[in-house]
Amino acid sequence: MKKTELSSSEAKVIPTAATIDPNRFGELLKVIEGLHKYNVLTYTVNRDQELYDLIVKKATDIMNTHIGSLMLFDDNAMKLKIVAARGLPQKVIKTSSLKPGEGIAGKVFQSRKPIFCEDIEFDERFKRKSRVKYSSKSFVAVPLKVKGRVVGVLNVNNRKTREPFTAEGMKILTLIADEAAMTIENRRLLRSIEKAYMDTIATLAKMLDERMPSTRGHSRRVAELSSELAKRMGLSEERYQLIKRAALIHDIGKIGIQDNVLLKPRALNAVERKIIQNHPRIGSEIVDRVEFFNIFVPIIAFHHEWFNGEGYPMGLSGAQIPLGARIVAVCDAWDAMISERAYRDPLTKPEAAAELTRASGSQFDPEVVKEFLKMLKKKTRKTPSLSCYE
Ligand SMILES: [Fe+2]
Repeated sequence: MKKTELSSSEAKVIPTAATIDPNRFGELLKVIEGLHKYNVLTYTVNRDQELYDLIVKKATDIMNTHIGSLMLFDDNAMKLKIVAARGLPQKVIKTSSLKPGEGIAGKVFQSRKPIFCEDIEFDERFKRKSRVKYSSKSFVAVPLKVKGRVVGVLNVNNRKTREPFTAEGMKILTLIADEAAMTIENRRLLRSIEKAYMDTIATLAKMLDERMPSTRGHSRRVAELSSELAKRMGLSEERYQLIKRAALIHDIGKIGIQDNVLLKPRALNAVERKIIQNHPRIGSEIVDRVEFFNIFVPIIAFHHEWFNGEGYPMGLSGAQIPLGARIVAVCDAWDAMISERAYRDPLTKPEAAAELTRASGSQFDPEVVKEFLKMLKKKTRKTPSLSCYE
């Protein structure tokens, strides 16, 4: 294929046989291998900071430099700020921020073009008009572009070999920056879509609350208690946030239950109980259809399973029941017991605590109950007005 047949992005980033010194093919292979691993890894990280750190690590590894930094544009401050760095003092990381046009990164941001400098001392562009100090003579800084918009700048300097960067190096860093920008943007989009879905589900949960005035606020309280308990039990932030979200919509399947059963002001008969016992299945089917929410299925589907296998819908027992569902089950029962229902008075908190203890090992996971009761005692000590044993 002739060079002219390449798309502009391909032509920009792929060093060709004509441009690469044959003695450096081994080096190029290493770079390609590094890029491949980097691309795979960026899609497996869970947190933004992890992603930023990984981008800088990979950029400095691939470019073989001591120093590297990723700066993103803060729309509120209207400045570029370092979000991850390697080889820079913490003070510099925390205090460095640049306006568009200021310093090297600011120039890259404003001009939307990479800057590659072999030796800053002899580069007319960087005669010390700026207050920004440069720690290295040779550097590369490239913009992170998303759909033509610059969102940040990726900088590397201080090559370990002490050799100056080459134009080829700038192409490679541009490739890394393109990938980084795309991954960062994809995550932002994913988050905004996820938020839109979450808002929709929260609205549905609220509608359910409105439909059942006797349980108003139940889902929100169960979500708060469940995430607090999960955190207390040592689950990671990712997992307790997931449990919180799932708990918020754990009863979403009740949307599919008819009014004469759902709103019945008296205790349910056997047939009605069977109907209402469909709500975990209906709820899990609702969320299973939406890609972002199918991770909630195990909690929604199994929050009425019993530890001894006598629950519904599957009759799972012990560790077969996902831990998140075992946690939500306890918090759900607690809130239901201490809340007023049309057909019964609420239990006092000591009575509800005694009931949890009684059902520990049969309906509920004993470990979860133990931690829940400890959590309540701690809450009581902190805020006596919220005493659960008054
Ligand atoms: Fe439920």
